[in-house]
This record gives sequence, structure tokens and C-alpha cells, in this order.
Amino acid sequence: MKRVQYDRYGGPEKMYFGECDVPRVGDGEVRVSVKAAAINPFDWKLRQGAMKLVTGRRFPKAMGTDFAGLVEAAGRNVGNVTVGDEVFGTVDFKKSGAFAEAVVVKADHVAKKPPQLSFAEAASLPIAAMTAWAAVIDRAQARPGARIFINGCSGAVGAFAVQLAISRGAHVAGACGPASRDSARAAGVAPIFAYSDSEAYARGGTYDAVFDTLGTLDVGHGLSMLNPRGVFVDINPTPGRLLRGMLSRRYKLAFATMGIKRLPEIAELAASGTLRPAIGLEAPFTDALSVIADAETGRRTSGKTVLTF
Ligand SMILES: NC(=O)c1ccc[n+]([C@@H]2O[C@H](COP(=O)([O-])OP(=O)(O)OC[C@H]3O[C@@H](n4cnc5c(N)ncnc54)[C@H](OP(=O)(O)O)[C@@H]3O)[C@@H](O)[C@H]2O)c1
Repeated sequence: MKRVQYDRYGGPEKMYFGECDVPRVGDGEVRVSVKAAAINPFDWKLRQGAMKLVTGRRFPKAMGTDFAGLVEAAGRNVGNVTVGDEVFGTVDFKKSGAFAEAVVVKADHVAKKPPQLSFAEAASLPIAAMTAWAAVIDRAQARPGARIFINGCSGAVGAFAVQLAISRGAHVAGACGPASRDSARAAGVAPIFAYSDSEAYARGGTYDAVFDTLGTLDVGHGLSMLNPRGVFVDINPTPGRLLRGMLSRRYKLAFATMGIKRLPEIAELAASGTLRPAIGLEAPFTDALSVIADAETGRRTSGKTVLTF
């Protein structure tokens, strides 16, 4: 089968289409015939070597994490899905491989696809929604009346974070670029600030949580926007920020992996319309190399870029 892979860490030029055997399923695993795979910034960061201490130096490495498709084989001890089910899910990032005609994953890394969603919409959910869940519900503890500020409220993670926080009864203020103001307003963000006006972020009072989806908000400034029991949530770790996250009660990192157990609830929230995936571009898998490179270098439409098979 065909997949996107690379033999060295580096830029978009390192990607190519490789051929490999269709992977076999083991105990507790399913093989999914991929119908759609969504592109996340994480995919190109992994290929650039951002996590090479964890991902190691064995090549070739496959690319892609989030997918939706049909279960075509199931190993022993799989209870949540069965052959023929439409599912969506995510591959362990240490292995990756969703930009491929088929993928094998642990059964708890998939959930049934809500019938209301297309494969492309379902593939847009896992990493972004799991991260938003970890940040807004687990870390920021969104609740009725809570005040939450989201820096980058318009990206894939940011938009799901807004939807989750508002569904829990929180008030959400945020910052985004000029092209995203209308969609942020429609989602219920108020007030909306420009990144260039960061001094104004706390003008309306302090917050119970500040969630920086972009890693661009000065941490000191973010902490100064909090009330005394508030928490700053970050999803863009650096070695210094990881250390800070371990030592500080008010500064917390959140990771997609914290939300894997929430996939079935994420499916329910998408089925009910609480989570609303936004697709920017659907492109055929045959265009994967140029489409990934375009997303990586900022030449894209707003909303998720999804490969279809
Ligand atoms: N810790 C974790 O486990 C984890 C998980 C997922 C993501 N992340 C990280 O979180 C960050 C955000 O991820 P994401 O998936 O939300 O990224 P994304 O969808 O690309 O959005 C990020 C920002 O990019 C801007 N943007 C959106 N479309 C754009 C376009 N067509 N051209 C230029 N800019 C555009 C938006 O800002 P404006 O509209 O305001 O300009 C948006 O807020 C990334 O750094 C990612 O690596 C971490």
C-alpha cells in the first residue's frame, strides 16, 4: 500500500510516497481502511524532528496521525468496534502513519463515527478536540460563569476550545487574526482582541483561565491576566516550559494524549452539534505532498486541510 514517509528529519522536501505491506492487526488492535486524514501542525513538527528524543532514529518513518475510515480487520479483545464500522481516531504519534491507505491502531484510539459527520469532518476531530478537552475541561475546569481567555481562538484547537468552554457555561474572550474575527464572533467569543493589542486583553477584568493555543503569549503577561486562583494553560512545550509546568501550580501544559479516553464523548458532542469541525480544504491523497507543504508554509485556507482517499 501507499503511504507518506521520510528517511530523515527535515523540511517538506523530505516527504515522499513509499510502498509498504498492509499492516497486520495484533491483540486489541484494528486495521482501518482510511477514507480521510486530517493534517495537524504536529505532523510536520514530528517530521522536522521536534520530538526526536522520543521518536528516535529508525527510518523510514510514516506521517499522519488523525484519520477516519472503515474497520477492515479486528484483533482479539476488541470490544468497542467491529469489522465494517465507520470510525475515526488517531495513531500513537511515536508510530504515526495515517497518511496511508490503511492504518493499524489500538482499538481505544478509535470511536464510532457519528453518522451526521462526513469522513473528512470526523478526521478533523481527534488531536484538536482531545487537546481542547485536556486544556479547557481538565486544566482550566470550564464551568458555568467561569471567565476564560483563549489566545488563538480561531485555529483547530482554539475553535474547539471555544465550543467546549461555552457548552460548559463559561464566558470566552479571545484573540485572533483579522481574517478570523467574524468566525470567532459567530462562535460566541466576546470581547475579541487583535494580537497587536495584547495590553488590552485584561481590560475587562481578570480571568479564571488563560489558554494560549499558539505559544505566542508572554507567560508573565498571561499570568498577570489571572485572578489569584486562575491557571495559565499552554500546549506548545519547550524544555523550559515543561520544567515550569512541573514546578508551578498556576502554569499547566496540556497534551492531546490526555484526551484519548474522551474520544467517545467527543463523538457524541460532534453528533449533537456542540463540536463543529471546520474544513478549509479537501484534497485527494495523491496531492498529499504539496498539500502538506502548503499547510506547513501557511499557504492554506482557514479551517482544517484534509486528505481524502
Ligand atoms: N500539546 C499538544 O498535544 C498539541 C496538540 C495540538 C496542537 N498543538 C499545537 O497547538 C498549536 C495550534 O494547533 P492548531 O491545530 O490549532 O493549529 P491551526 O489550526 O493551524 O491554527 C493555529 C492558528 O493559525 C492561524 N491560522 C489558521 N488558518 C490559517 C491560515 N490559513 N493561514 C495562516 N494562519 C492560519 C490561526 O490564527 P489567526 O486566525 O488568529 O491568524 C490559528 O489560531 C500548534 O502549534 C500545534 O503544534 C499542541
